[in-house]
Amino acid sequence: MLCVLDYGSQYTQLIARRLRSQGFFSEVLPGRLSASAIAARRPSGIILSGSPHSVGTGFDPDPALLSIGVPILGLCFGYQFLAQQLGGRVAQSTHREYGAAQVRKTQAGKLDPLVNRLSPTTQVWMSHGDSVVELPPDAQLVLESAGKPAGFALPSRRIWGLQFHPEVYHTPEGKLLLESFARDICKQTPNWNLRAELTELKDKLRTELADVREVVCAVSGGVDSTVLAVLLSQVCKVRALFVDHGFLRAYDLANLRRVFANFPNIQLEVVDAKERFWAALDGVSDPEQKRLTIGRLFVKTFADHVGEGRFTHLAQGTIYSDVIESAAVAHGGAAHIKSHHNVGGFPQDARVQLVEPLRPFFKDEVRELGVLLGIDSDILHLHPFPGPGLAIRCIGELRRDRIEILRRADAIFYEELIRRDMYLRTWQAFVALLPVRTVGVMGDQRSYEHALAIRAVSSVDAMTADVTEFSIAELLPIAARLVNEVRGINRVVYDLTTKPPGTIEWE
Ligand code: XMP
Repeated sequence: MLCVLDYGSQYTQLIARRLRSQGFFSEVLPGRLSASAIAARRPSGIILSGSPHSVGTGFDPDPALLSIGVPILGLCFGYQFLAQQLGGRVAQSTHREYGAAQVRKTQAGKLDPLVNRLSPTTQVWMSHGDSVVELPPDAQLVLESAGKPAGFALPSRRIWGLQFHPEVYHTPEGKLLLESFARDICKQTPNWNLRAELTELKDKLRTELADVREVVCAVSGGVDSTVLAVLLSQVCKVRALFVDHGFLRAYDLANLRRVFANFPNIQLEVVDAKERFWAALDGVSDPEQKRLTIGRLFVKTFADHVGEGRFTHLAQGTIYSDVIESAAVAHGGAAHIKSHHNVGGFPQDARVQLVEPLRPFFKDEVRELGVLLGIDSDILHLHPFPGPGLAIRCIGELRRDRIEILRRADAIFYEELIRRDMYLRTWQAFVALLPVRTVGVMGDQRSYEHALAIRAVSSVDAMTADVTEFSIAELLPIAARLVNEVRGINRVVYDLTTKPPGTIEWE
């Protein structure tokens, strides 16, 4: 197993995901664990992540890591930390280097087991403020970028460092680097695969839930909770609760009924809580207030409906990225950007046992599990939809009439994307209703109606995202339909912001 130590970089979990997708089992652990706690897990190698912090500001790894005796690869902050520990010098750059850069393999690099398989020059993704200005005395420079160090190796101590991020999609040869580290340097065998994991998981659940009559779980129509319910239904009875908070899309519930119809062990119950949510949210504009209120009420509605003491096992669709994100926030690592509403929200009642079988898996792994479980692929390829639903796509004030406009626009947009084969060409696409009204002319009349934004992004994991390049010719007829058919909208704009600096959702 490889340990990926997290120092708060937005990309940490990608490192583990990339490794697993190549068959190397890896785990993310909090970066401030002591070297002895890490050694106790008997890793075959350690990767130090990047960080928003600088070396020497109180967030450094335990220096004793260097004496554990397994190979270490430092990335970005991890690279700077290793360089400094080994006698090199790190300095703050005059400007932050952010974006794609070219690196060149040096003479020493051609013989180095980490980088030797790279092309002579290759694109990498940089995101750093500090730089290594002097390499450690015995280190070899293996990669350079514009005449400056970009990677070093200290083979005698089995230590490597890279200034850039091999884990992100924008470093096209990054997977070669991770594979070389795992396979050639740490001697890991690439034998981890999901089919074997699923068999093992079902066996474990069968033992764990042997005497359990039924498991209760909340379902949203999204991929995670659908896979969760179906997985559990192969082991015991599942009472699946769908809370309708009033911010759902026109087709969410219908989809869910269609999927669950194939799995007789799942009993679906729909809780209509629309009025309860409106009572708390009518007129609310602040994004965090929307998110927190919806999260809190969701939990309450769920708990009220199932009734205290009436169930013993509660299943949650927590996946690995949720676990890591909340741990990072708890450790003061990654900056808190938004309150996501499905992260460990349910009240902890000692008598209720939590069942979280998807905890070890990343999103795309959950999708693959869904395929193995026989779930329709159109459901598994649904774009992600946030827990707070249309409420955070109705930018600004929440009002029933604005949500209705948005819901109609969303349904038309969805229908058009599918009809034009555009849905699967983008990772996530949606419309957001803007809190501005603009002047238009419809027929011979002046109109003064809402503007609607179309957002479409390409991503692998939502950590970074590019704007999907739909052509104007493809978008024009969709925009025309939105303006013509949705009363209350007279203008459509296309969002051209990548993540970062934007986020995918507007709120
Ligand atoms: P952002 O806007 O943070 O979104 O770039 C990243 C991804 O997460 C989805 N998202 C959520 N998912 N509960 C969820 O289950 C939430 O509260 C939530 N907020 C955002 C978003 O749609 C995108 O795919």
